[in-house]
Amino acid sequence: MRLRRIPGTREKILEYTPWLVTEPTAWQGRWQSYIAGRLGCESPSPVEIHLELGTGRGRFINEMARECPDRFWIGAELREEVLLDALELAKTWEAPNLAFLWINVEQTVDIFGDGEVDGLYLNFSDPWPKERHAKRRLTHQRFLDRYRRYLKTGGLIRFKTDNEELFRFSLEEMAAKGFALEQVTFDLHKDPALASMELSARVMTEYECRFSRQGMPIYRCEARLLPEPVRVMPGSDE
Ligand SMILES: C[S@@+](CC[C@H](N)C(=O)[O-])C[C@H]1O[C@@H](n2cnc3c(N)ncnc32)[C@H](O)[C@@H]1O
Repeated sequence: MRLRRIPGTREKILEYTPWLVTEPTAWQGRWQSYIAGRLGCESPSPVEIHLELGTGRGRFINEMARECPDRFWIGAELREEVLLDALELAKTWEAPNLAFLWINVEQTVDIFGDGEVDGLYLNFSDPWPKERHAKRRLTHQRFLDRYRRYLKTGGLIRFKTDNEELFRFSLEEMAAKGFALEQVTFDLHKDPALASMELSARVMTEYECRFSRQGMPIYRCEARLLPEPVRVMPGSDE
């Protein structure tokens, strides 16, 4: 996706406090304090943190934040031109439980602490179809290793795409990294189980709206982070 750089966007984006977190590494391991500050609570009980990687223009995350006010939602996006739209949308409804990070997903390991994130969302991630670019896919094992560091054990990665090759690749990568695959569907919007799936399966992203309108199937799965297997040393009593 090539985007035209609009002069002044950078300056504009930095004005979107509190929705833009300008120094996200400062909150590593302390996101509950950040959330308490945003919600104006003195001694809060922990709030679930849900993170969308490559949030685009923010349609999905704004709707999820509105529908699930008891969770805190964070959208990460690299490109300021699209992030600006996501921020503007959050501002229109004064979203209390939503924040955005202007970052590369690569940086997320320096932003979130061990097990700090309850749920991850990868919606229509760039497919990087050439084999020599496979390492850039956000479901490559290289990224799954990063997510494992800050996703809570038992937490889910929810993944949606229009790209069958990327989907099959992702299923293999997730399985190889020991994630348990659940709710795997090769045509989400024609799947009779859709009505009983969790809300995030039914809330559409901007890419999903576009592809579904064209009649293209949408692929979706959930991948659960299982506990690391306990290694038994040879000769031990266990
Ligand atoms: C194909 S768009 C999908 C946007 C949105 N999730 C949707 O479903 O409509 C992929 C988005 O991911 C962002 N992105 C891709 N690689 C990224 C990275 N490494 N870090 C942060 N954002 C990234 C792109 O800038 C783009 O906005």
